[in-house]
Amino acid sequence: MSVLITGGTGYIGSHTVVELLKMGRDIVVMDNFVNSKPVVLERLREITGKTLKFYCTDMLDRSGMEVIFRENKIDSCIHFAGLKAVGESVEKPLIYYSNNITGTLNLCELLIKYGAKKIVFSSSATVYGKPATVPIREDFPLSAVNPYGQTKLMIERILTDIAAADPTWTVTILRYFNPVGAHISGKIGEDPRGIPNNLMPYITQVASGRLDYLKVYGSDYATHDGTGVRDYIHITDLARAHLKALDYTDNHTGTESFNIGTGKGYSVLDLVKAYEKVTGKKIPYELAPRRPGDIDECYADPAKANRILGWRAEHGIEDMCRDADRWQSRNPNGYGE
Ligand code: WQD
Repeated sequence: MSVLITGGTGYIGSHTVVELLKMGRDIVVMDNFVNSKPVVLERLREITGKTLKFYCTDMLDRSGMEVIFRENKIDSCIHFAGLKAVGESVEKPLIYYSNNITGTLNLCELLIKYGAKKIVFSSSATVYGKPATVPIREDFPLSAVNPYGQTKLMIERILTDIAAADPTWTVTILRYFNPVGAHISGKIGEDPRGIPNNLMPYITQVASGRLDYLKVYGSDYATHDGTGVRDYIHITDLARAHLKALDYTDNHTGTESFNIGTGKGYSVLDLVKAYEKVTGKKIPYELAPRRPGDIDECYADPAKANRILGWRAEHGIEDMCRDADRWQSRNPNGYGE
């Protein structure tokens, strides 16, 4: 019986595949390489010493995806595949709704057809919109402020309704806060296309000299130093949360959502200082106006995941900086062309 990993060569997917293979889980990976590269498969083989069962296919290619179900006994799924750039989703909403929503509907129809009624879904803290208070609990109001966030909210709704209609389903929703860092080997990591939107990959590219300086978006937020506060979580801690979620899913039915964060908030300048301290590299920056849509503070109350999943983040902010820097230093151009 295999676990289907959609989007398994992406940033979060690849780090989760490493942990799944380490635990001896039987997995089948699919990806269309829209946000990753085939070389990731080689890096996964180098790290784990194992060869992956991999299908290069697209969620919108229903018949291509069905081949996976015909050739393997799939009994559960970790669903990472999806477009995830907030800014791009505002510019190209139809592409986001088509890819993320239609793709997920195709996947769910196949899961039902082949009797694989267990799914762990890659959601995001973005579904909380602008929270009234922090730390954020799973019972907080949900609202999305961009098409990307809307797709996460809609998919949570779709999966919840499927499980409500068929109580033999299990839906485990993981709401990620801010994933950063890289596998300790430095062989896999975050490889954004073009200029990074997110803070940590921008910092690593300034540290490596690929970019000149960091623009700090906003210094007048209601935070301890005026810059945006987020709950940065080491990618390996996030990956390990999926193993706990899979175990939970194997032994329960119904729908549950979990915040996957450390419960600690760090500002932009906190992260810059931590990075400089750990690496000895200077991160020049300039204060710039706020980025539209950004919020002051966002960090998790991870108590539910700690209690029910038996999962807790183990890496601190300095580990995140050290491992991110190692990945960037060893892969100045990411996975290359
Ligand atoms: C973090 C902080 C910025 C870049 C996004 C998505 C969210 C999730 C995680 C998918 C903010 C500041 C950033 C820069 C800066 N992705 N910043 N200069 O916006 O919290 O979350 O990624 O699920 O959906 O919204 O992360 O890393 O972009 O920003 O000052 O060059 O860093 O203003 O305060 P964010 P981020």
